[in-house]
Amino acid sequence: MSTNGTARSAQPDPCNFVIFGVTGDLTHRLVIPALYNLAEADLLPQRFCITGVVRKPIDADALRDSLMQGLRKFATRPLKDDLARRLLGCLTTVQADPSEPASFDRMRQHLEDAEHSRATAGNRLFYLATPPDAFAPIARELGRVGLLREDNDHWRRLVIEKPFGTDLASAIVLNGALLKVADEHQLYRIDHYLGKETVQNILVLRFANGMFEPIWNRNHIDHVQITVDETLGVGHRGSFYDATGALRDMVPNHLFQLLSLVAMEPPARFDAHTVRTCKAEVLGAIQTQSEAEALRNAVRGQYRAGRVEDQPIEDYRKTANVAPDSTTETYVALKLAIDNWRWAGVPFYLRTGKALATKRTEVAIKFKEAPFTMFRDTAVDRLSQNYLVIGIEPVEGITLQFNTKVPGPSIAIDGVEMKFQYKDYFHAAPSTGYETLIHDCMIGDNILFQRADSVEAGWQAVQPFLDAWRKAGNDGLEFYQAGSNGPEAGEALLARDGRGWRTPC
Ligand code: BG6
Repeated sequence: MSTNGTARSAQPDPCNFVIFGVTGDLTHRLVIPALYNLAEADLLPQRFCITGVVRKPIDADALRDSLMQGLRKFATRPLKDDLARRLLGCLTTVQADPSEPASFDRMRQHLEDAEHSRATAGNRLFYLATPPDAFAPIARELGRVGLLREDNDHWRRLVIEKPFGTDLASAIVLNGALLKVADEHQLYRIDHYLGKETVQNILVLRFANGMFEPIWNRNHIDHVQITVDETLGVGHRGSFYDATGALRDMVPNHLFQLLSLVAMEPPARFDAHTVRTCKAEVLGAIQTQSEAEALRNAVRGQYRAGRVEDQPIEDYRKTANVAPDSTTETYVALKLAIDNWRWAGVPFYLRTGKALATKRTEVAIKFKEAPFTMFRDTAVDRLSQNYLVIGIEPVEGITLQFNTKVPGPSIAIDGVEMKFQYKDYFHAAPSTGYETLIHDCMIGDNILFQRADSVEAGWQAVQPFLDAWRKAGNDGLEFYQAGSNGPEAGEALLARDGRGWRTPC
């Protein structure tokens, strides 16, 4: 997200876009299609080249063919063959493997040659589309051969994808390894949720409108619900998922991005330092729970066989590469507290899960109820709830739920909705969600990227749950049928506070 109205359409500086993991799924599915969309929008630098880093030798033509097939499969818009060929025509390949340090010295020479012939001015963006265990070794080697060294005329940036560690300790180690070879301003930790327009809009909704901020606090808000329900099961990702689970996979990153945007203090300026500081502060204010509290304030579930959208889903424990006695959670619900003046006493309920009945990502702000006194002597027996719902996907928009009088001679009240939907106002071309993020990397705007301190604050908040569950093993693991709304205990977590998850109308 550019920090002013003009930077977004700015032409980035010339650069060499260096992709580690160029033969992999992420490059084919998202990175190249996003570069294609940027090229179509004329948002790539005039002087630009792509260097694909491979571990084993591969013919550059074969790689271009494979990326072209990827484009045909994953392009979000009708493909213009000429443009696609021109984009892939600026790709060269180089072999490098961090376990063979000399290969990085050779890579350095290759980059310099390519940059000379393409006149990309020495600016380099290193995109690590690799498995996470390669992040630190690649960064170490890039640093060792001086490829990350910046001077006044050249920038060097390193983009990495989640997961940023698997717990607090490993996140600290990873950040330490990256910061040893690069400065924080060179690091772009991608959370793809921040590429979503509806997520970026939370800042605009809150801070470009005068009417929400005065009531955005414990005086008026009863609680906040963050829901990321998915219909897909674990599918072919068994080995990754079984070692990860729903909490690690979704909460310290995606759900905490939503939480921090909803709960942060208003930044004094719309720049990366100020916005990221406000986000890190609110994540740091999440109350650290004891293990006993963590067990009480969390529900973890695992799906059993069932049907989702009429398709059968097999029992999680029967998924390929999942342990038959796995205790990995595919559903998690948490109750968190934020220890500051704005949010003291306002619970934040978070939930996410796989193989659920409906796909739905939303933030629901539940306002305190109006005093009922005025209606005591009428036929009205209850007021419906006031929610402001920020729909992230598939419903992209904002809904306000409020009470209204049912027309007629007697007093009757019903809940109604006022709805804004993006599709009614804007007609954005379909995108991968990576265009803004990649463009921001190229123009050097890291407002939408995670800083080391927020990554660590996120892990700090979830660490007690990880520790408590590791010790509890099978105890307390709930089961739910694929295609349901998750385990009963997920409902009970709110019911014991006299609350309930919002049901969409
Ligand atoms: C990824 C997780 O980071 O986010 C996946 O690894 C998950 O397990 C995905 O399905 C969800 O993203 P989205 O954009 O579909 O909500």
